[in-house]
Amino acid sequence: MEQHGESGERAQFRSMTEGTQEDWALIAHDYVGFAAGLPDRVMTHLKLLDGDFGGFPIDRMTHSLQTATRAHRDGRPESYVVMALLHDIGDTLGSYNHPEIAAAILHPFVSEEEHWICRNHGAFQGYYYFHYLGADRNVREKYRDNPHFEACAEFCAKYDQSSFDPDYDTLPLAFFEPMLRRVMARPVGGGALSAMEATAAKHKVPA
Ligand SMILES: [Fe+2]
Ligand SMILES: [Fe+2]
Repeated sequence: MEQHGESGERAQFRSMTEGTQEDWALIAHDYVGFAAGLPDRVMTHLKLLDGDFGGFPIDRMTHSLQTATRAHRDGRPESYVVMALLHDIGDTLGSYNHPEIAAAILHPFVSEEEHWICRNHGAFQGYYYFHYLGADRNVREKYRDNPHFEACAEFCAKYDQSSFDPDYDTLPLAFFEPMLRRVMARPVGGGALSAMEATAAKHKVPA
């Protein structure tokens, strides 16, 4: 099955040592189209959290939406709200390290602090329940001297640990979708996408 944005052409090399400029122009062309489909793929994956309760009062999708809703209503910028929306998207594939999965997906699109919050929210969220599992609720203290400590503690206190309320007026995914598409439209600074776009523009792929 061809992926979003693919030309249907194929590079000719069997190993990268045989690669040519034409091969890489073709790959760059397809990469640009594929990259544009990232928000669709993220939306599809986020929806896997729908109906996944895991014993919690509300499912992971509603928890994600409620965390984002609270952040939005508190006046946070779009990149922060999208981070809040996606902070648990790693639960399905990273069941033992879910914050790292979400942080890696968000990294090209959010601030350093937003990335740090997402990457470390598990340890900070633990303040509210690790002691019920026989663990140290203060494990977050190992980050006490980090400049983002307070921001991460605030994310958990205000938005994450408080977002298990079935009676809260949670905004739907449709409300956040345009925001997600804006934030994920381009990596901050262009990243690999800029190089691929420039290569695709410079070397036209034969029709
Ligand atoms: Fe989490
Ligand atoms: Fe969460």
